Amino acid sequence: MKLDGRIAVVTGAGSGMGRAMVQELHANGASVVAVDVRGDAAEETVSLVKDADHALAVAADVSRRDEVEGVAAAAIDRFGRIDLLCNNAGVLDDYTPAHETSDELWNRVIGINLTGAFMFARAVVPPMMAQGKGVIINTASISSFVAGGGGAAYTASKHGILGLTKQLAFDYGKHGVRVNAICPGAIHTGMTNYLFTPEGRNPHVDAAVAGTPAGRWGTPEEIAHLALYLASDEAGFIHGAAFTIDGGWLLP
Ligand SMILES: NC(=O)c1ccc[n+]([C@@H]2O[C@H](COP(=O)([O-])OP(=O)(O)OC[C@H]3O[C@@H](n4cnc5c(N)ncnc54)[C@H](O)[C@@H]3O)[C@@H](O)[C@H]2O)c1
Repeated sequence: MKLDGRIAVVTGAGSGMGRAMVQELHANGASVVAVDVRGDAAEETVSLVKDADHALAVAADVSRRDEVEGVAAAAIDRFGRIDLLCNNAGVLDDYTPAHETSDELWNRVIGINLTGAFMFARAVVPPMMAQGKGVIINTASISSFVAGGGGAAYTASKHGILGLTKQLAFDYGKHGVRVNAICPGAIHTGMTNYLFTPEGRNPHVDAAVAGTPAGRWGTPEEIAHLALYLASDEAGFIHGAAFTIDGGWLLP
């Protein structure tokens, strides 16, 4: 299997893409630490994988330095090393424009989507450099390139995570650490589920999705397939890249 014996940490693992990544990585031989601020959701993800001896659920808030460092320590304590980090936890800002964005909302969205990814990378890079090998995959977004996929804080956080991806790739590639970003378009997950309810239906989003070449929403599993490829040695020449996986949303 592609990831036999590798140790992976996936954040935002209690739902959507993070859950699908845990299942995909685990099915391909990795032991996985499933991290989510909702501990019960992380536990549920672990209960879905076949060999739960090779999976560990950890309740942690990625925006808290002590909890991030605690996860890295717990992963090494349980499995001995960290080979792969999927910085995937994220929250939306309800498309709030800047003049209506409170300090609290700004700090929450930047704190989870960007600072959390930074702190996790900071925690895992030293052991990865010491072992001469590691992979970091950041879940960015089409909001890393264009406006309108979120509000001010979300779009800024997703542009920021792309910059972080590039700098990490630049600084640590020569130490054997590859860093890349996945940039999803509209994916049906816990984050977007409300758009499928009668009250949440948004005609603009429906029209935008229908207008893409794919003409549909993406699935978390489609994102997880890309994460598996980027995690594998087959992607060994890929450093600092941003992979849009959006059904063609960004083409026009
Ligand atoms: N769904 C989309 O259309 C879409 C598109 C582009 C990018 N993204 C990004 O994909 C990533 C995954 O989102 P998803 O769509 O699977 O959403 P989701 O809501 O289904 O899953 C996100 C998970 O992150 C967890 N989480 C939230 N705050 C956390 C924190 N502080 N610490 C730890 N865990 C936390 C949530 O509990 C949840 O389980 C996010 O970074 C999101 O911004 C989503």
